[in-house]
Amino acid sequence: MSKFTPEQIAELNEKLETPEEVLKWGFDTFGTKIALASSFGAEDVAVIDMLNKINSKSRIFTLDTGRLNQETYDVMDEIRKKYNTNIEITFPDAQEVIDMVKVNGMNLFYESVENRKLCCGIRKVHPLNKMLDTLDCWITGLRSDQTQNRGNAAKIEIDEQHNGMIKINPIIDWTWDQTWDYIKANNIPYNKLHDKGFPSIGCEPCTRAIKPGEDLRAGRWWWENESDKECGLHMDHKT
Ligand code: ADX
Ligand code: SF4
Repeated sequence: MSKFTPEQIAELNEKLETPEEVLKWGFDTFGTKIALASSFGAEDVAVIDMLNKINSKSRIFTLDTGRLNQETYDVMDEIRKKYNTNIEITFPDAQEVIDMVKVNGMNLFYESVENRKLCCGIRKVHPLNKMLDTLDCWITGLRSDQTQNRGNAAKIEIDEQHNGMIKINPIIDWTWDQTWDYIKANNIPYNKLHDKGFPSIGCEPCTRAIKPGEDLRAGRWWWENESDKECGLHMDHKT
């Protein structure tokens, strides 16, 4: 249960304008029980830079699915060195993966949406839930124009999907261009997949570069037809 009412959260969203103000509120309120979830895409490295300018001890965790790109591990290490920070890594439960691939194979995600969600569940969602059980607030790099679902998300939210804990999306109202202006202006290490045509970073077998004019998330689970593709980390805002 959240210690904040929806009215208090609405007031905070009105009052706190910049990403830095929102993050500062997060640190003052939650101390060491707040951490950023980072997939090391453009949005997340921008938020990492802001976090470190506000609090050099800020916590960053990543859900290593075991299927990430080498470029993602490269930027993780660059960030680790530049900000002198220990990135907290989570892994999927080994037995869950063993049981899943025994029955469904290593590349089960291509076979059906159900299999893909099973894999995302075991490799990402379960480790996220375990990590969030130890926190009072999590920070993300979500932006509202990424998916229709995210269009209704706010800077500070009560995360009903995770026991009513607080979720902070400091750059929810930033554009893709604003994110890159910030990365360049602050000389932040970024994932080299972005130079290879990948706007959105996910797992290696499930993400590809996009063609000019394609939607920024078209490269994620590209073989699926659904328009608003999510993997289950973020709550549903459609209703
Ligand atoms: S996803 O749900 O489709 O995979 P997306 O890649 O858009 O999410 O990332 C949105 C936000 O979710 C990121 O800014 C980050 O906060 C969080 N996130 C996504 N993937 C991971 C990951 N592997 N580890 C940690 N956080 C992640
Ligand atoms: Fe599995 Fe693909 Fe989801 Fe990664 S993105 S967890 S490989 S289905």
